[in-house]
Amino acid sequence: MTETFTLVHLSDAHLGPIAGFRLGNLNIKRAFGFLNWQRHRRFVHVPSVAERLAADALAHAPDHIAVTGDLANLGLPGEFVTGLGWLKSLGEPHRVSVVPGNHDIYTGQLGGPSCLETWAPYMRGSESWTETSPVHFPYERTVGQVALIGLNSSIPTPPGVAGGRVGPMQLAALARSLERLGEAGYIRVVLIHHPPLPGQATARRALEDAAALADVLARHGAELVLHGHNHKQSLAWLKRGDGGGIPVLGVASASAAFGYKAEPPARYHLLRIRRADGEVFINCEVRGLDGEGHVARIARDDLVMPSP
Ligand SMILES: [Fe+2]
Ligand SMILES: [Fe+2]
Repeated sequence: MTETFTLVHLSDAHLGPIAGFRLGNLNIKRAFGFLNWQRHRRFVHVPSVAERLAADALAHAPDHIAVTGDLANLGLPGEFVTGLGWLKSLGEPHRVSVVPGNHDIYTGQLGGPSCLETWAPYMRGSESWTETSPVHFPYERTVGQVALIGLNSSIPTPPGVAGGRVGPMQLAALARSLERLGEAGYIRVVLIHHPPLPGQATARRALEDAAALADVLARHGAELVLHGHNHKQSLAWLKRGDGGGIPVLGVASASAAFGYKAEPPARYHLLRIRRADGEVFINCEVRGLDGEGHVARIARDDLVMPSP
C-alpha cells in the first residue's frame, strides 16, 4: 500500500441523558451507577462535546472510524437508541466499526434489545453487511489493505466491577483471523474496549484474560491494537515473537467537557497508516478540546517502538 489510510479512533462517549430508566430495570448495580452519574459523570460527559469531536473527525474525511465502546452508561436499551443516533452521525455502518464496552453490556437484566442488536449493522463482518444475522465476535472487516478485527471484552458484572473477559472461543478465533489476514497481507488493526495487556488497569477494571490475549497477539501478530476504558491516552508496546513490537494505543473519552481526576478533556485520535518497503508506519494525531475549549490538534507523533 503506498497511499495513506486514515483511521479515526473514538471511545467512551458515555452519552447522556440516561434514557429508559424505570423501576422494572432497576437493580443494585444500576442504582449505584445512576448515583455516580447524577453526582459526577453527567457534568463531565457532555453529548455536544462528542458531537463536536465527531464533526471535527469527519472534516478530515477519514477512510474509516473505529469506536471502542462505552457509548452508554447503565446499559439500558433506551441508551442504545441514543448511541445509534451518534453512530449514524459518524457515518454509514460500512464506514464505522464498533465494539461494546462494559457500560454497554452492564448487567444481566436488560429489559429490551441489547446493544449488540441495536448496533448490529456497525458490528457485522464484511461478509454479512447486508444480512440480518446476529453479530459474532471477533468480527472481521476489510477496508482496502486494512483489516479491522473487533473483539467483545464486555460481560455483565456485579456492582463495583468494571472488568472484562474475551474468553477462549474468541481467543482461538482471533488467532486464526490474525494468521489468515496476516498471510493475505492485510494491515491488522484489533479493536477492544478494555486495555489488552496485563497491568494496564486495576484488578476490578481489568481484562481477566489479558495475559492469554497478549500471548495470542504476540504469537500471531497484529500491526495495531486500539482500546478505550481508561479515559486516558496511552501507548504501550507488546513484543512480538519475531522481535518487533505491536503498538497498543488507548484513547481518552470523546465527551469530557473538562479534565476530571486524572482524565483529560475530550480527545480522539486521527491515525495515518501507510506501508512502505514492507513496513507499516503509523502517525497518531491527538485532537480534542484545547485550553480555550476549541477542538484542535493537541499532539502529533509517529508511533516508534523505543529501543531496549
Ligand atoms: Fe468508559
Ligand atoms: Fe469502560
